[in-house]
Amino acid sequence: MFDDLLNNNKAWAQRIEEQHPGFFKELAAQQKPDYLWIGCSDSRVPANEIVGLMPGELFVHRNIANMVLHTDLNCLSVLHYAVEVLKVKHIIVCGHYGCGGVRASLGHDDLGLIDNWLRHLKDIAYANNEILSAEEDEDARVDRFCELNVIAQVSNVCKTKPVQRAWKAGRELTIHGWIYGIEDGIIKDLKVDAKSFDCMPELYRVG
Ligand code: CO
Repeated sequence: MFDDLLNNNKAWAQRIEEQHPGFFKELAAQQKPDYLWIGCSDSRVPANEIVGLMPGELFVHRNIANMVLHTDLNCLSVLHYAVEVLKVKHIIVCGHYGCGGVRASLGHDDLGLIDNWLRHLKDIAYANNEILSAEEDEDARVDRFCELNVIAQVSNVCKTKPVQRAWKAGRELTIHGWIYGIEDGIIKDLKVDAKSFDCMPELYRVG
């Protein structure tokens, strides 16, 4: 019930304060997260909970289908702040199987405004047509595409200026590609860690 939310919040804050006295006062003074999370807006993939992190430990950006687009000032601003001000050491792109955005991008329905967002996914699908059409079952195709999308977004993160500046300065910064199973709650590491310019085509290098 909607009316429960504020009561839930009071109970939650009280519980945290009992378990960790002074928790909120300390956090109010500063945040020092080591991780930036880029995930899907899907309500079944709550960032902090699934990796067991407390408030203050994870800087979060979420959008439909966990995309990192070079014209998305929202995502790029989050990334900029996380890398250059908070100096996070890890950026996690976490997709999830059965992603509705990914599934919709493989269809042909006129969905209105969101089609412009999903078009970026379509481009990735088109570029990976051979791999995707080898999957016979539609669900398997969607899941395979969910993985390919994470890999493409990890690559996009690498190409951004804050990441390149950090690497150029010799800072330790690793980009990870993960995918979450909404059916079992388990995260799979796609093992596409990127931690240097070696992970990026020369054409995209800046400076
Ligand atoms: Co999703």
